Amino acid sequence: MSHDTVITGARVVSASGTTHCDIGITDGKIATLGSSLKGTETIEAGGLIALPGGIDSHVHISQPSGPGIEMADDFTSGTRSAACGGNTTILPFCLPEEGQTLREAVAAYRARADGNCMTDVSFHLIVRETDPVTLGQDLPALIQAGYTSFKVFMTYAGLALSDRQILEVMAVAKEQGAMVMVHAENEDAIEFLRDRAERAGETGPFHHATTRPVPVEREATHRAISLAEIAGVPLTIVHVSNGEATEEIMRARQRGLTVFAETCPQYITLTASDLDRDGFDGAKYVCSPPPRTVEEWPKIWAGIEQGTFDLFSSDHCPFRFNDPAGKDAPGARKTFRNIPNGIPGVETRLPILFSEGVVKGRISLERFAAITATNHARLYGLYPRKGAIMVGADADIALWDPALRKPIRQADLHHGSDYTPWEGFEVTGWPVRTILRGNTVMLDGAPIGSPSGTHLEREAPDVLL
Ligand code: URP
Ligand code: ZN
Ligand code: ZN
Repeated sequence: MSHDTVITGARVVSASGTTHCDIGITDGKIATLGSSLKGTETIEAGGLIALPGGIDSHVHISQPSGPGIEMADDFTSGTRSAACGGNTTILPFCLPEEGQTLREAVAAYRARADGNCMTDVSFHLIVRETDPVTLGQDLPALIQAGYTSFKVFMTYAGLALSDRQILEVMAVAKEQGAMVMVHAENEDAIEFLRDRAERAGETGPFHHATTRPVPVEREATHRAISLAEIAGVPLTIVHVSNGEATEEIMRARQRGLTVFAETCPQYITLTASDLDRDGFDGAKYVCSPPPRTVEEWPKIWAGIEQGTFDLFSSDHCPFRFNDPAGKDAPGARKTFRNIPNGIPGVETRLPILFSEGVVKGRISLERFAAITATNHARLYGLYPRKGAIMVGADADIALWDPALRKPIRQADLHHGSDYTPWEGFEVTGWPVRTILRGNTVMLDGAPIGSPSGTHLEREAPDVLL
């Protein structure tokens, strides 16, 4: 049998094992894994590693961010950046504007994304209203239409839900078979600490971190887990930043609860001291939860190594630095309260974990595949179409050069932001080719071809099957 494309010579990695074989691709799918395969096109990949195309299941693109504030990425630049970082699927959040229904928001996001994406895309919902139409009609209908996961916030004025509201939303998830993702930080505690800091004149970017200390996240993590236990649903705690919140997740699992957890590159490579950089530069690192201390890094690594963390995502939430529509928003230099939260990272997530995790011997290639692709597909209803190099799956593959060594440089990245928090960070191991459904979309660090990404309808999470 002849294939459209054959990849030869690569070490082929999946979450369950590694082998040397050819990959035969036909009609955008993996048709054969074997030896001496024939194809119209041959990609010679000797010395390279073939990993499942990255799935980044925590990404914010073109998200409404308040009056006068604009995210640095639209779907063109965001997915271009994702593809150049070895990703083939991203899951951005769909946030309704104030007064907009969930269905209207989904339609608006779809219109912005359709035809503009270099990776495949599927949306998580954000539930900010709990009125009868949202919970009784829109949310169930959207879950049934394939939007099988949604996020609730315990922080951010205007987005945070009360405990009662979270329970109501979780009840819908239980009924419809969706995954609830929780941003766990205690808004009342943050508001108290913020007011006190401002009264004391502590208004620089660093105080974004001091007003969101570890107990703010640990308490909310515990509460979110308890609410999920009461409602009887599994949940995912996103962007876990520290050891105490990690312990809450481990304790819940010991009690038999189904709790999934995600962490991100910022929590193993950045610290709150980065928010204290000269002048206003600390604003480049303002995100929530904030980066912690170097003492927290090994606790997060332990969770990555031992399986507490199922997901390693970017929480890509890009703003430009030198821009009044970004980090330099009106009032941002007067108080950290006005600095838009979030940092860019969709292109650097995989190289950072590969270098710091695989190359430094902390995690295996198989675990890398699991927490950067396979688990994302399983948890969010894309498996087995996505997330693994196996027969019948979409031919979404990243070819990695494990020996390529170069620092992260803003000049080499493809996002819409004007900085990277990891400028100068030395990385060994980079993706050199990204293949989406059989077509190369990145080669040697440069995007290739016109946008061919599609929207993916999703099944229920694997855990509920
Ligand atoms: O600071 C962050 N992480 N902004 C993105 C929104 C969120 O909470 O995930
Ligand atoms: Zn969040
Ligand atoms: Zn986020």
